Amino acid sequence: MIKVRFSAALPDGAHCVITPIVLDGLDAANLPGDPALIKAAAAGSRFKGEAGSSFDHHLPHASGAQRLLLLGVGSGSPEDMEKAGAAISGRLLTSGETTAAIDLGALAPKPTAEAVARMAAAAVLRSWRHDTYRTKLPDAQKPSLSELVIVGAPEGIAAAWAHQSAVVEGVALTRELVTEPANIIYPESFVARCQALKDLGVEIEVLGEAEMRAAGMGALLGVAQGSIREPKLLVMRWDGSNGAQEKPVVFVGKGVTFDTGGISLKPAAGMEDMKWDMGGAGAVAGAMLALAGRKAKAHVVGVCGLVENMPDGGAQRPGDVVTSMSGQTIEVINTDAEGRLVLCDAITWVQKRFKPEILVDLATLTGAMIISLGNEYGGLFSNDDDLAAKLTAAGATAGDPLWRFPIGPAYDKLIDSPIADMKNVGPREGGSITAAQFIQRFVEDGVKWAHLDIAGMVWAAKPGAVWDKGATGFGVRLLDRFVADHFEG
Ligand code: BES
Ligand code: MN
Ligand code: ZN
Repeated sequence: MIKVRFSAALPDGAHCVITPIVLDGLDAANLPGDPALIKAAAAGSRFKGEAGSSFDHHLPHASGAQRLLLLGVGSGSPEDMEKAGAAISGRLLTSGETTAAIDLGALAPKPTAEAVARMAAAAVLRSWRHDTYRTKLPDAQKPSLSELVIVGAPEGIAAAWAHQSAVVEGVALTRELVTEPANIIYPESFVARCQALKDLGVEIEVLGEAEMRAAGMGALLGVAQGSIREPKLLVMRWDGSNGAQEKPVVFVGKGVTFDTGGISLKPAAGMEDMKWDMGGAGAVAGAMLALAGRKAKAHVVGVCGLVENMPDGGAQRPGDVVTSMSGQTIEVINTDAEGRLVLCDAITWVQKRFKPEILVDLATLTGAMIISLGNEYGGLFSNDDDLAAKLTAAGATAGDPLWRFPIGPAYDKLIDSPIADMKNVGPREGGSITAAQFIQRFVEDGVKWAHLDIAGMVWAAKPGAVWDKGATGFGVRLLDRFVADHFEG
């Protein structure tokens, strides 16, 4: 990822100078080189200063600056500045330029520190790549840009950037965990990659198979039993409230490091996607890194239920009945509906241990979610209107949008079983909702709960606002915003 530096002046050495242009602000802009020529060329290319648009021009005689990038910043709002920041990397990452410098000094109206930090964060997020396994990447496709220098940033930028840069690190961890293939990231190695959180003051506790058996987690263990990989329950606790917030806010993530479907085997086409079936757990780990990294003044616990869903000779069968940690029994109709089996025990464990008032789970839970919302919103299910509203607002502000779905008794009864307390699948219709109903059966009285089905948001087939194709890091910015807005005094 590129580095961001704030400076009082443009750099001396070779660089690309970026001039921000507000919407319809081209005429009034103060440009280097031959302004009349550049303005005519930019206008001729239909550049108007819309957020995220750009116009690229070479400066023949300038000393340091070799290239000029006109960058549309729209209204200069945080959202528009974010688009502009992403465009910086989109345009320059592999352009051959190594340093880009943007002078915000003349920008009017002056953007807030928050908006400038969002711009910088977007530039860094859009420069994230995972080239670890590409040993033959042509030179021209390798990133050249290494640094963004920001000149003329407003007062308060240090604090705003300290916050945003921690969030960027969190998103990067999530993307890395999600992108790594399942022969590299499995429960034990997922836990190993999260050990770095300890250095930031996060308390880490890991339950292995023996501890989970002792706790009675028959549902989670039933999923894991077809794999040679040992399941893990990863618990991360950050208390930045100095003990003031007694009960932590709890986040729980589905961490199926690979989902073959088990004995209810998935078809071959596209099965490789199921390496990212740990995206909920990845978001929880990334959010914890962000919160600890910026020393959030809140008490937060993140739990990741980590298992691999495989179909070996020891695997559970359709029709098996398992007993969850809550004592409730489950008829496993379909071994591919495994995420809810993992989540239910993780949720029971964290409620017993931490007695939270607020619990949010994140999971790539159902293909049906992608059928209903596509890749534009995560699905939100909740037993509490206030919590739902807060999460929706946090998502909209942070750039991880959510859309709420209904839940209720009419859906709940669809997962009753003739042999056990419930079955793990309902009918095809409303599949995301019956999955949420299943999870709700494990939420204890009085706990405000929300379930985020992020199946359509973890992985992108096309570039988005702050991501290229691939892992998005969805959920980290949302959870960070949610904590910042409601639990930090
Ligand atoms: N991990 C999948 C859901 C999924 C599918 C996420 C495609 C992203 C893309 C989940 O474990 C699953 O297999 N769900 C089943 C549930 C069904 C058997 C009730 C599904 O959605 O088909
Ligand atoms: Mn599955
Ligand atoms: Zn799954």
